[in-house]
Amino acid sequence: MKPVKVGLLGLGTVGTGVVRIVEGHQEDLLNQVGSPISISQILVKDRTKGRNIAVEASKLTEDPWEIVRNPDIDVIVEVMGGIAQTKEYILEALERGKHIVTANKDLMALHGPEILEKAREKGCDVLYEASVAGGIPIIRTLIEGFSSDRITKIMGIVNGTTNYILTKMSQEGAAYGDVLKEAQELGYAESDPTSDVEGLDAARKMTILSTLGFRANVSLDHVTTKGISNVTQEDIQYAKQLGYVVKLLGIAERQDDFISVSVQPTMIKKSHPIASVNGVFNAVYVHGEAVGETMFYGPGAGEMPTATSVVADLVAVVKNMKLGVNGRQAQLSYNVVKLKTDEQ
Ligand code: NAP
Ligand code: HSE
Repeated sequence: MKPVKVGLLGLGTVGTGVVRIVEGHQEDLLNQVGSPISISQILVKDRTKGRNIAVEASKLTEDPWEIVRNPDIDVIVEVMGGIAQTKEYILEALERGKHIVTANKDLMALHGPEILEKAREKGCDVLYEASVAGGIPIIRTLIEGFSSDRITKIMGIVNGTTNYILTKMSQEGAAYGDVLKEAQELGYAESDPTSDVEGLDAARKMTILSTLGFRANVSLDHVTTKGISNVTQEDIQYAKQLGYVVKLLGIAERQDDFISVSVQPTMIKKSHPIASVNGVFNAVYVHGEAVGETMFYGPGAGEMPTATSVVADLVAVVKNMKLGVNGRQAQLSYNVVKLKTDEQ
């Protein structure tokens, strides 16, 4: 059986989890897809850096093109982050017929349509489940599970770092800066945590969710965004006294052909199910005209939960390769409706 060869871009928090799962679940993955999955090359910034995982030194490279242009690589798993350079690598890999799995919401929120268009042109998969809500399979659910319905509202806690901070501030009276540092040490925060605390990470995720959920062209510019850096211990305690909790909430609503999307610190009644989503956990509430209310809950960041989604995408790509149906999801997630937003 010829192995499916994977080029891994990044061996940080998520990349390490990906190697652990691909190696640790080898037999189970083989049983599911019928071919061994082999991580052949790994891109890092610094080959000499100490790692939390043992990998053959010969697999590590600091040259992205060595992987992207390697004709033996079938799938690129991108978990390095960044936008401009990363987009260049992905477009080049697609041009060469390689499938892509990515956890990069920054890239998909800003350049998703262009990347998916290229994937369609080349008959390649671009799967990005881990880009929103870490271990919750919400992207697959919106594309496939709700294909029969008309979604009217998507509301969620989609950033683990800020939910971790707000929870610790509320439950333990912890100081904002101390908890942020903890979230960074735990691998939850972005390399520049400003995007977490200022709401940009959540805004990018809401862009992706509302694009898929409403089957519309939603751009990041349409998302009204406010983060948690100005939320004080006093705000949290005052909300508590009134029977509320403060959460960084993304809200996307559709009324007729008008949609609005926002991310902001919000007071939620303690009795609402989303109010009890604590720590690094995320939750996404979806209302569909036919189904009514649904809610999806799980870990929103961190090594193993995020890697679970990445490797699930990898399995889907390999299954598609076997069936000869790659590019299917790129077609399914194509934007079909042009809706009005606040700016129009
Ligand atoms: P990370 O821990 O900072 O790891 C990044 C990895 O990429 C490192 O191995 C780094 O190499 C490598 N890298 C970065 N820039 C590079 C460059 N220009 N050239 C070569 N190698 C480069 O990041 P992470 O937390 O794993 O996140 C990775 C991606 O997943 C990001 O897009 C992030 O938004 C997304 N994501 C993260 C989480 C999470 O919980 N952490 C959850 C969902 C999605 P060195 O090791 O040599 O420095
Ligand atoms: N920094 C992000 C978060 C990682 O805290 O939610 C998961 O996307």
